[in-house]
Amino acid sequence: MTDSNNRHSEHPIDAFFLDRWSPRAFTGEAMHKETLLTILDAGHWAPSSGNNQPWRFIYALRGTESWPVLLDILSPGNQRWASNAAALIIFVSRTYRLSKEGEKRPAYTHSFDTGSAWFSIAAQAMKLGYHAHGMEGMDREKAVEVLQIPEGFRVEAACAIGRMAPKETLPEDLRAREVQSQRKPLGGVAFEGWFSGEE
Ligand SMILES: Cc1cc2nc3c(=O)[nH]c(=O)nc-3n(C[C@H](O)[C@H](O)[C@H](O)COP(=O)(O)O)c2cc1C
Repeated sequence: MTDSNNRHSEHPIDAFFLDRWSPRAFTGEAMHKETLLTILDAGHWAPSSGNNQPWRFIYALRGTESWPVLLDILSPGNQRWASNAAALIIFVSRTYRLSKEGEKRPAYTHSFDTGSAWFSIAAQAMKLGYHAHGMEGMDREKAVEVLQIPEGFRVEAACAIGRMAPKETLPEDLRAREVQSQRKPLGGVAFEGWFSGEE
């Protein structure tokens, strides 16, 4: 029962959660490095199992040498609109943790933990007047090679951050998709006591 951003929640959640969404229309404005570092700083205060902090953020700011390198890793479909963002981040996670003796042990929650860092980044970006848009669509093998990602690290996803632009700035096919998404009923994903919904 909160209404905001063309969305309506079943319970009185903070409007922030409805206002966060993933637009594709960005203004093409650049971002100061200090702003991006502030956003990444928030990300690395995310919680993680054992405070393992498995996330790694590989970033590029528009107008720098790294920008075309990261942009080129994205799928062609994502490049079309992400090219107007101000910053790109590729999220990588360390799949192991080190024991006291320095031995590598599998880190069961490395992806889960890195997901919480991604959300902190999206939230801090919102609070600074930006929007963040997550992306699975990229060439992960190219990312490993070009970004020199070591063994034992998993390429998770990417995101684009920028100032939102009017949807009229998008090509027609993307403009048609520039609408706030909705959600399944809460009862379809939250079960009291045992798994009682559809898969
Ligand atoms: C991990 C992840 C990967 C995603 N991959 C893509 C992608 O490759 N391309 C794209 O346009 N959107 C992508 N999205 C955006 C989702 O489609 C979007 O978050 C979802 O439809 C919910 O909409 P909302 O974020 O506006 O609430 C991705 C989002 C996440 C979190």
